[in-house]
Amino acid sequence: MTAPLLEVTDLRTHFFTRAGIARAVDGVSFSLAPGEILGLVGESGSGKSVTGFSLIGLVDPPGRIAGGSIRFDGQELVGLSEARMRAIRGKRIAMVFQDPQATLNPVLTIGTQMALALQAHRQAHGRVTDRAAAERAGAMLTRVGIPEAATRLNNYPHEFSGGMRQRVAIAMALLNGPELIVADEPTTALDVSIQAQILAEMKSIARDSGTALIWISHDLATVSSLADRVLVMYAGRIVESGPVGAVLRAPLHPYTRGLLDSLPAMAQPGQRLAQIPGSAPSLLALPAGCPFAPRCAHADAACTTPPPRIDRPGRQALCHHPLDAAA
Ligand SMILES: Nc1ncnc2c1ncn2[C@@H]1O[C@H](COP(=O)(O)OP(=O)(O)O)[C@@H](O)[C@H]1O
Ligand code: SF4
Ligand SMILES: [Mg+2]
Repeated sequence: MTAPLLEVTDLRTHFFTRAGIARAVDGVSFSLAPGEILGLVGESGSGKSVTGFSLIGLVDPPGRIAGGSIRFDGQELVGLSEARMRAIRGKRIAMVFQDPQATLNPVLTIGTQMALALQAHRQAHGRVTDRAAAERAGAMLTRVGIPEAATRLNNYPHEFSGGMRQRVAIAMALLNGPELIVADEPTTALDVSIQAQILAEMKSIARDSGTALIWISHDLATVSSLADRVLVMYAGRIVESGPVGAVLRAPLHPYTRGLLDSLPAMAQPGQRLAQIPGSAPSLLALPAGCPFAPRCAHADAACTTPPPRIDRPGRQALCHHPLDAAA
């Protein structure tokens, strides 16, 4: 087996608020092989973004990493100084956000921003010439499906459509040849047809360049067409993980089953979608035991105690009554 690129162990990222401690990420463990594509899914508020921000050291007060370990290529990132983290962020680990405005500067042309992003990580090798920077930037724009890239370098972010702007943000993320990209719902705000295009392109880019990808989405369907493995998150925990095909075919956790049943593709024409009853719990008032219990059709007295970790070959779940054990 190759050594993992990323190994997250018992990560806990908590927000210390006036109303109490929100344990947004509470004991998350997973690993990622070089070049692997991992989907991270769960309803809004389950802790997906906070997991992503934790990986790149961008958790702001009142939040902080309260425990656990994030090893990237053998190096511990938890507790790393901001100066050292900055050398990794954007270079070895890049992030793409739902809103490209979070990364794009409205008053600089795309070409200038891409040149700056290249320079920022090139101190060790001296300056990149303007021409070399423009060539690399243009090639990246072409790679993410932007036509007439050389001309488009002179444009400002607002001169691109929403879909094209997100492609620019993806090109920026790819610029320094990262080993890992964390993409946090980057296509959620876009048209379904554009989402599908970007998804397919992202997968081929990741495959071609050997870049590992963590693709965060509230939509299990999106992840299923893209990822090798999937992590299902609920109330700050990974409640199920495994190869995408196996998890979709036969989920172990009732929550994963619920997510699957609520996909439009699963419904018969004319039939109502089976929504998971209830809503995501407040992290400040989680029930004792399994946090999914109030919404779970399989809940019984056992579920008032913390669910055990169920191990199957290549797969795991946190549940007292995994679905493959049901009589
Ligand atoms: N700045 C913050 N202050 C307090 N709590 C926060 C903050 N950011 C996130 N949280 C808590 O973390 C939970 C998970 O947030 P997030 O990771 O953004 O969810 P999602 O799965 O939708 O990406 C939120 O429901 C909230 O309880
Ligand atoms: S532990 Fe119990 S309540 Fe939680 S998901 Fe499993 S069966 Fe449902
Ligand atoms: Mg989010």
